[in-house]
Amino acid sequence: MGAGGRTRHRRSALTRRLRTCVLVVKTRCCRVCVTTVGLLSLLGVCLSYLQDPPLPAPQHHSAATLLIWTHPFGRSGTLPDCYALYRIPGCTLTDDLRAYPHAEAVLIHHREVATGAAELPPEPRPRAQKWIWMNYESPTHTASLWRFEGLMNLTMSYRADSDIFLPYGFLVPRVRRDRGLQNRQPQVSRLLRPHLVAWVISNWSESHARVAFYYQLRRYIRVDLFGDAGRPVPEDGAGGSVVRLLRRYLFYLALENSQHTDYITEKLWNALRAGAVPVVLGPSRQNYEQFLPPEAFIHVEDFPTVRGLARYLLMLRRNPSQLRRHLDWRRSYSVRQPEFWAEHYCTACRAVRRSRGHTGVVKNLTRWFWL
Ligand SMILES: *[C@@H]1O[C@H](CO)[C@@H](O)[C@H](O)[C@H]1NC(C)=O
Ligand SMILES: *[C@@H]1O[C@H](CO)[C@@H](O)[C@H](O)[C@H]1NC(C)=O
Ligand SMILES: *[C@@H]1O[C@H](CO)[C@@H](O)[C@H](O)[C@H]1NC(C)=O
Repeated sequence: MGAGGRTRHRRSALTRRLRTCVLVVKTRCCRVCVTTVGLLSLLGVCLSYLQDPPLPAPQHHSAATLLIWTHPFGRSGTLPDCYALYRIPGCTLTDDLRAYPHAEAVLIHHREVATGAAELPPEPRPRAQKWIWMNYESPTHTASLWRFEGLMNLTMSYRADSDIFLPYGFLVPRVRRDRGLQNRQPQVSRLLRPHLVAWVISNWSESHARVAFYYQLRRYIRVDLFGDAGRPVPEDGAGGSVVRLLRRYLFYLALENSQHTDYITEKLWNALRAGAVPVVLGPSRQNYEQFLPPEAFIHVEDFPTVRGLARYLLMLRRNPSQLRRHLDWRRSYSVRQPEFWAEHYCTACRAVRRSRGHTGVVKNLTRWFWL
């Protein structure tokens, strides 16, 4: 190879790494952008990434076959086209179990195997095949974790420290052009909404902390209850009915069924999409702040008493300028909610292609997940 060839080679390697870097930044976006915010930190991630020793040329050319072992909650549907939907190339998704012997990875959703609705794939597994443990329930609602010990090669969940991290939702910084449009402050009158507080609850259980909180809160403030224990959510036939309902409310109770690290579900993201200010009960405030600006939510622990919290909400309704403090971040970020399960399959497949040649075993899944 001549000098020119080498330069060309080096340059293309660099371009490739830059491109990978952009991808890495994209995937880390929710964490990096939201915590430290801004270009500098993104650049930092890029630079530290570029300083790693060069990787061997990735074998990204051939497609990866990802076998969907069970359909989550038994709901099957057509598998997505990862390139058309997410611009993720080189993915062959299949739910045909006959593909097992040549699948590069198998995506195993926890629930079906834990309940016995499905068996684990047969051993011995094909050489170099990876098994991916996927779960979006909290540890409290994840039974029989021990069954998966010593078997899995990758984890995929809402936890930021999963091998494959895809949360229930995340913020995306708005591009500047977009920001200009958003910069005009909405009229104060437009901040006001006809209703105060809503709560949509689908699994009512007296043992949940959220139900105890609701009983207290409604002593001081009106809470409109929807779902299992309340009025039905008005249907709009497009699946966005909760978001639509919440557009008429100032506040939404985003109360998780159990409290665990990073366990922040669609309840929060639906509220943000609807422009309602979420009142959250879940992990600590500090944990929420790893994903959101501090003023984007009101944490139940921000107030020593539930009465104090209720008073604060009533005060915000009377003072739109105070309320605005909780909405201003919207000019800088937009909300994204990944689509279950299409985006999960495609994200898993992309991770499989990127981790070609790496091996690993998930050590003590139970300890990690409960941490
Ligand atoms: C509803 O809550 C109960 C009590 O915590 C729990 O056992 C059950 O698994 C939950 N159901 C769903 C569908 O989450
Ligand atoms: C995946 O995990 C299994 C079980 O621990 C292990 O035997 C296998 O070598 C791992 N495979 C890869 C590709 O990491
Ligand atoms: C995982 O960690 C827990 C708690 O530290 C321990 O009790 C258990 O024996 C470990 N399990 C395995 C399979 O290593």
